[in-house]
Amino acid sequence: MVRKAVIPAAGLGTRLLPVTKTVAKELLPVGSRPSIEYVVEEAVEAGVEEVIFVLSPRKKELVDYFRPNAGVDTLLADHSQYHILDYLYDRFAKTSFKVVIQNQARGLGHAVACAREAVGNEAFLVLLPDDLIYTDTAPSVSKQMIDVYRRYPKQSLVALFEVPEAQIPAYGIAAGEAIDTRVYRVNHLVEKPPIAQAPSRLAVVGRYLLSPAIFPFLLQETTGALGEIQLTDALCDLAKTGALLGYCFNGRRFDVGTPSGLAIASIFYQRHNPDIRAFIKELATTL
Ligand code: G1P
Repeated sequence: MVRKAVIPAAGLGTRLLPVTKTVAKELLPVGSRPSIEYVVEEAVEAGVEEVIFVLSPRKKELVDYFRPNAGVDTLLADHSQYHILDYLYDRFAKTSFKVVIQNQARGLGHAVACAREAVGNEAFLVLLPDDLIYTDTAPSVSKQMIDVYRRYPKQSLVALFEVPEAQIPAYGIAAGEAIDTRVYRVNHLVEKPPIAQAPSRLAVVGRYLLSPAIFPFLLQETTGALGEIQLTDALCDLAKTGALLGYCFNGRRFDVGTPSGLAIASIFYQRHNPDIRAFIKELATTL
């Protein structure tokens, strides 16, 4: 039902310098896998068939992580490690990966607007790879959002969670009224407000399920907070038409865009991903 996902990954990764001078932050490991893999896996498991990466010219090779690699594949095949090859590629065998280049770093809103042609006229997910959301017994947050979308078709959705007051200036903040369990009708959004101007403590997290109705708003957007074209501002315009819902997801969110967040997520995922640990142990002993 939702076939496409946009993953904006053009950012410079300044909070993770100096390693991001040469390595894309999305390839830094969380536990034993690059952080981008968790996000792509979440989208694919939710039914996405086409992943659209929005990349800067210097990061355009990021997509290669999801493509066959002759050297590694031959090495594994020579050692008859076919199950490892299956592990690497089976999950994404039916997924197509597209790259859209964002030539200038003009913000998240601009990045999503760059994907307009690739998305076309259908609803799509946006997943920010800085946000990993772990769910244990619940379905992934993307699945949860698709479920809400089924109940409220044609609406766009942002994922929300409550933050302590001191953290408000780091997020997009939403205001609205509850209309269902965990579901809000959003009527206002503001990007990174000072605490005194925040309409609530409900922060936007990096998962969105958007109708193509967002694009006209994105295209007319001028620079907002931090001098960038903000997705939050376009969502606020959309909210004024009554077409935006907020969804308080069930899950634990990690910000892997900072050194401390990356370290915490890494320890957590290493502990909570026993299958991957077994796989890596096996890989180390067989090669
Ligand atoms: C982006 C969004 C912001 C959202 C945040 C969640 O900000 O612009 O609205 O709250 O992601 O992680 P960034 O953290 O990229 O500055």
